[in-house]
Amino acid sequence: MREFTEETLTDAVVARLARTENARFKAVMTALIRHLHAFVREVELTEAEWTAAIRFLTATGQASVGDRQEFILLSDVLGVSMLVDAVNHRGGRGVTQSTVLGPFYIEGAPDLPMGSDISHGGPGEPTEVSGRVLTPDGKPIKDAVLDVWQTAPNGFYSTQDPNQDRFNLRGRFRTDASGAYFFRTIKPTSYPVPTDGPVGTILNAMGRHPMRPAHLHFIVSAPGYETVTTHLFVDGDPYLDSDVVFGVKNALIVAFTPKAGAKTLEAKYDFGLKPAARKTAA
Ligand code: BEZ
Ligand code: FE
Repeated sequence: MREFTEETLTDAVVARLARTENARFKAVMTALIRHLHAFVREVELTEAEWTAAIRFLTATGQASVGDRQEFILLSDVLGVSMLVDAVNHRGGRGVTQSTVLGPFYIEGAPDLPMGSDISHGGPGEPTEVSGRVLTPDGKPIKDAVLDVWQTAPNGFYSTQDPNQDRFNLRGRFRTDASGAYFFRTIKPTSYPVPTDGPVGTILNAMGRHPMRPAHLHFIVSAPGYETVTTHLFVDGDPYLDSDVVFGVKNALIVAFTPKAGAKTLEAKYDFGLKPAARKTAA
C-alpha cells in the first residue's frame, strides 16, 4: 500500500516490522508504536504540541552529560522508573523491597572498614546505621556488599556540589560472618531534585513540588543472590506521602532515634536478599 489514512497508518507501521528478527524487540516495538499512535489520537495532538515535545526531549538529552542524568530524572518524575521497578521486582517474604536508583549513583566509592564515618566528621546530625544482611529465612549472608550514598545537609550529592569531595557521603561496606554491617554518617535531609533543567520546567508546568523525603541509598549485593537497589527513608519526614519520584514503600521507613547514652542517632535495618535463580542448561 502506498497511501495511508488516520485509520490505516498504525497497522501499516507495525506491518513494517515483519522482518524484525529479535522476537522480544519486535513485541516491544509493536506495543510502543500502537501506544504512541493511540496517545496522538486520544489527545488529538497539535503540531505545535508535538514540536514542543520534541524540543523538550532534545533539551533533556542535551542536559544529560557527565554526572547530570536528566533522562533518568524524567523517567523518575513521570513514575516510569518505579513502574519498571514494580514489574521487575515483585519481592516476596523476607526480601527487601527495591526502589529507584536515581541519577546520583556513581561507581568507585571506597571500600571502608566497618564503623567508618562516610561524612568524615562533616556537618549534620551524627547517626549510626547498622543491621544485618539475611536470607529470606533469616540466615546471615557473609561478604554482602552495601554500596551507600546520600546527600549532605545542604541537599546536594557530592557530584552536584563542587565544595564536596567526589566520594563524600559515599562508601562500600562488607558484612561479617554474622551478616552484620555498621557505619557512621549523618541523618539525611529531604531535598529537591534538580529543577534548573527541562525536568524542573515540566514539574513547574504540572504544578508539582520537586521534593524527595530524606533517605539513604543502598545497593546491596552478594554472590548467589539478587542485587537490591533501595533506600531507607527517615520516619516522620513531611514528604513521605508526596515523594516527587513515587519511590516510598512503607517497609523501607526507618526510625532514626537518639542512642541511649550517646550524642548520636541510630537507625537499624536488616536487609533480606533473594537467592538468584539458578541457570538451567540449554
Ligand atoms: C535520588 O534519590 O537520588 C533521586 C531519585 C530520583 C530522582 C532524583 C533523585
Ligand atoms: Fe537520593
